[in-house]
This record gives sequence, structure tokens and C-alpha cells, in this order.
Amino acid sequence: MSKFGEANYDLGICQLRHPTHDDAKLLSVELAKIEPWKTLGSTPQEFEEGFQSQTTSTNTYAVVVNENPVGIISVRYPWLLGPYLGFLGFIPEAQGKGLGKAIMNWLEETANQHSARNVFICVSDFNHEAQAFYKACGYSKIADLDGLIVDEHSEFLLRKRLS
Ligand SMILES: CC(C)(COP(=O)(O)OP(=O)(O)OC[C@H]1O[C@@H](n2cnc3c(N)ncnc32)[C@H](O)[C@@H]1OP(=O)(O)O)[C@@H](O)C(=O)NCCC(=O)NCCS
Repeated sequence: MSKFGEANYDLGICQLRHPTHDDAKLLSVELAKIEPWKTLGSTPQEFEEGFQSQTTSTNTYAVVVNENPVGIISVRYPWLLGPYLGFLGFIPEAQGKGLGKAIMNWLEETANQHSARNVFICVSDFNHEAQAFYKACGYSKIADLDGLIVDEHSEFLLRKRLS
């Protein structure tokens, strides 16, 4: 079981739970419609399957506010001496309300409890809003992975040192 592998977490502003079938179905359709996944060609079908898959190293959670699923987060741990945030996204109505910041704080606090030295994330070169969000959270670009997901775009690998 991953260090991030509890079935539920209560962050106050929101709860995290392993996605139910209904969570995965709803969020896969809503998140495939928005950037960056529209440009990256992600489909609801691949999301629905991926959102419900838990492995020994990767845990995926629905972000729930007032009983409503509003986003998905997926954490791979261990990665490079710390967790890798493989997915973070909220439906448009839930963006800009502090959920992202609360989740990054939880991720870093949990990583710190396990003496992790780093947190890693990838962000698309065209996703300027998410880049601004991660910069505000203290993340820096450490690599440019050209053509990682689609030929026309790079993914920037970001890192935050915890110690
Ligand atoms: C990017 C995303 C995860 C951020 O989460 P969020 O809940 O909307 O962000 P928050 O409300 O917690 O914002 C936290 C801080 O980040 C900064 N920030 C967030 N969005 C920003 C933007 N578009 N431009 C500049 N700064 C931004 C702000 O400093 C903000 O804090 P403040 O307003 O209190 O000063 C979310 O908007 C999202 O799901 N976007 C669409 C999908 C996506 O791009 N996911 C990331 C894929 S790598």
C-alpha cells in the first residue's frame, strides 16, 4: 500500500475518496472537455478506467465538496525520493476557490511525514494558468520533456524541494 493509500482523507475544505463508479463516470466526461486534456486528446473512456484504478504505488481520489465530486487527484509514491502528482484537475465551477492550494498543502505535509525530500509534477507548455498556480505554490521547472504526450507540445517537469 502506498504511503498515500488511505481510502479517505478529510482536508476540511474538501474530502478525498477513492472514486466510486459514478464519480469516475461524471468526472471523466467533465475533465476530458477542458484544457489541458482537450489539446492532449484524452478521452472520457481512458479517464473512466484510469480514475478507478488503484495500484500499490498509485492512488487516485475524487475531490468531494458538499457530497459532490468536483475533481480528481492521483499520487504516485514513491517516485524520485518523493511523490509525483500524476493528475490534478477540477471542474470549472470548482476552480479558483482554494481547493488546489489545500491539496498541495496536504500532499506536501503527507510527504514530509514520510521524510520525502521532493514533490514532482508535470504541466503542459501551453497550460499557463496551471504554471502560474504551481509557481505560486513554490514549484520550479527542472526539465522540458518534448513530445512526451503529443508531438506538438512539451511537458515541463516541476519540482519543489521539501528539505
Ligand atoms: C490549476 C488548478 C489545479 C488550480 O487549482 P485551484 O483550486 O483553481 O487553485 P486555487 O484556488 O487553490 O489557487 C491557489 C493559488 O494559485 C494561484 N493561481 C491559481 N490559478 C491561477 C492563475 N490562473 N493565474 C495566476 N495564479 C493562479 C493564486 O496565487 C492562488 O492563490 P490566491 O488566489 O489565494 O492568491 C485548477 O484551476 C484546475 O483544475 N485547472 C484546470 C485543469 C488543470 O490545468 N490542471 C493542472 C494540470 S497539470
